[in-house]
Amino acid sequence: KMAKAWGGRFQQETDPRVESFTESISFDSRLFEVDVRGSIAHATMLASVGLISEAERDQICQTLKTIRDEIAAGNFPFQAALEDIHMHIESALIERIGDVGRKLHTGRSRNDQVSTDLKLYVRDAIDELDALLLDVQRAFVGRCEQDAGVVLPGYTHMQRAQPVQAAHYWLAYCEKIQRDRDRLADCRKRVNVCPLGSAALAGTSLPIDREMTAQLLGFDSVAGNSLDVSSDRDYLTEFAFCTSLIATHLSTWCEEWIIWFTTEFGFIKLPDAYTTGSSIMPQKRNPDVLELIRGKTARVMAAVPQLLLLTKSLPMAYNRDLQEDKLAMFAAFDTIKACLELTPAIVAGAELNREQIASRLEDGFLDATALMEYLIKKGVPMRTGHGTVGKLVAKCEAANCRLKDLSLADLQEACELIEEDVYGVLGTENAMKALQSYGSGGEQPVADRVRAWQAAMG
Ligand code: ARG
Repeated sequence: KMAKAWGGRFQQETDPRVESFTESISFDSRLFEVDVRGSIAHATMLASVGLISEAERDQICQTLKTIRDEIAAGNFPFQAALEDIHMHIESALIERIGDVGRKLHTGRSRNDQVSTDLKLYVRDAIDELDALLLDVQRAFVGRCEQDAGVVLPGYTHMQRAQPVQAAHYWLAYCEKIQRDRDRLADCRKRVNVCPLGSAALAGTSLPIDREMTAQLLGFDSVAGNSLDVSSDRDYLTEFAFCTSLIATHLSTWCEEWIIWFTTEFGFIKLPDAYTTGSSIMPQKRNPDVLELIRGKTARVMAAVPQLLLLTKSLPMAYNRDLQEDKLAMFAAFDTIKACLELTPAIVAGAELNREQIASRLEDGFLDATALMEYLIKKGVPMRTGHGTVGKLVAKCEAANCRLKDLSLADLQEACELIEEDVYGVLGTENAMKALQSYGSGGEQPVADRVRAWQAAMG
């Protein structure tokens, strides 16, 4: 039977069912790299303040690196009895270098060790997600040139509303993703505060140098309250929320393209590599990857309530419940990462069905608002103009024609201020071109934003 690290005051063995119930090695082993990083910084600090010798420090750090490499290579056995990755690494260290290894945990607790590891892990995760989000933005910006000049209907309530440049859609996603990146960057500030040295909950009587470990690990600052930081998992909940908003954006994009991919819409062709067939219906081409991104985002979002529920009733400081935090965070991270890895190829590989889109672009009175704004420019009060155009639309519906098909006489009957130049705003293309406010879907404003995004993407 293996001796427990905390076995000193116990007389009975742990029930094997308790060992498998309480273990976390099955899901926290992936923390091995950050754990070793944290321990090397800790040992370096212990030597610098004289709690261990320099020779001991070197022996500890060397052995930790060997252990790390063995784990990375898959040559390191894990067992539930050793509970978690932290105990595995420490007991291997002790097994190999005896009493020197027994000094590593000086002035430290697994509580601050776990939180330090998690923060290092999440910090890396944020940087990884940021790079993936940038790839997605690049893919959308890349589409803008390819689809230059293509006009798409814009919708509200999924009813045709006003026309916009296709690139306006792509840049809308870029904006959303930029906010996701900004949010992650903001979250990173709170992640990057060092818990190490808060020890179990109260700090320590030993002369540790918290500034030093924080600096060695690349943290911006040192947490100011040991009770707070050893119970804090805000940063995980916040990170999960950041991934959830990314998930929301990906899911709405997928939903939109799934609709666009239907025969009824027929706006878009998806690349073969990212669609699948049916085992029974030979003609089928299904947007399974988009559906699964939409579906998998549920797992990302579930991490937020999971972490809130996990932490909401915990008195300070550490409680073992917190071990479950990793399950939620890893699930959110792994899933959003997998989704983001596939997204750029789908975005870049899709093609708009230009003819199909153009063939129905005059449907749905996409130019009605442009006509109303034409009337406003002629001096008609907005509400009056709205009513006038509404009546003209009803007239077109009855006659089964478009606004631009109405004769000048018909138009003037509705409002005598209308002149020949009205035909310059009627029709979908003209209505799109009439849009000129900053940030609008018109030709020039969109071209300006495309240039700005291209510059931002480098
Ligand atoms: N495996 C545990 C976790 O991940 C380690 C915490 C140890 N602390 C304790 N007081 N039991 O949270």
